[in-house]
Amino acid sequence: MSNRVRKAVFPVAGLGTRLLPATKAVAKEMLTIVDRPLIQYAVDEAREAGIEQMIFVTGRGKTSLVDYFDVAFELETSMRSAGKSLDALEPSRTRFGELVTVRQQQPLGLGHAVWCAREIVGDEPFAVLLPDELMLGRPGCLAQLVEAYEMVGGNVVAALEVPPDQTHKYGVIDPGATDGRLTEIRGMVEKPSPGTAPSNLMLPGRYILQPEVMRQLDSQETGAGGEIQLTDAMARLIGEQPFHAYKFEGARHDCGSAAGFVIANLAIALERDDIAPKVREYLAGR
Ligand code: G1P
Repeated sequence: MSNRVRKAVFPVAGLGTRLLPATKAVAKEMLTIVDRPLIQYAVDEAREAGIEQMIFVTGRGKTSLVDYFDVAFELETSMRSAGKSLDALEPSRTRFGELVTVRQQQPLGLGHAVWCAREIVGDEPFAVLLPDELMLGRPGCLAQLVEAYEMVGGNVVAALEVPPDQTHKYGVIDPGATDGRLTEIRGMVEKPSPGTAPSNLMLPGRYILQPEVMRQLDSQETGAGGEIQLTDAMARLIGEQPFHAYKFEGARHDCGSAAGFVIANLAIALERDDIAPKVREYLAGR
């Protein structure tokens, strides 16, 4: 059994109802942030962190995600014969076996989605990335977590401060002893009722977990919203295994909401030398 984090689970079965009608016929993870689909950013973040196997937990209507990372034979053949460069396709190429998929047949919650990958994850630590959450940092968020994990082991999850009136929308941690960006976790609660959150440190959707969390999820116990919650399964392991939160250094954009999606586009555009001047000029004129 390896202690290195080699596998990452991407729950991508969600319907994306907050972005309708855009997501009626297009998977939300395929919506573009500038000129790359959202899923590309999460996969790039995982690759940067040393992940070797991407496990997509998909659902009906999500086949385009798998096609995107496959070889586009007709496209590549016609581009090659026209003498065009294939460089732009490079990030969407996967090595044989780099991408594995499993279906979540019913939308029973995030914990259930992760549990659907249990046979592929097997008996080793793994990462979970929620692609809706675009995490921009240098190094990337998961690479920051891996660095922390190499020091403390166990389970390491990203945490971010949000205004106290926002905590009811997220998983929230009860922090213990803090050392720089690392904080011990004493407890966790999914979507606490307003005014009851143990802190304003929320879970923005990047996790390094030990395989025992899958055993916790076996019970299929439901929590907030009647769903099987990953937060609840993690909370049950606190005390049995080391659990730390790492305060991610960088920016988070919730691309599952229209405003977050537009801001993410602007944030990426303003970092791109080729398009930033035009975007800046437009914004300055508003
Ligand atoms: C999920 C998690 C929650 C986390 C959030 C981040 O909630 O259950 O703990 O804080 O993602 O986006 P959801 O947004 O699916 O309700």
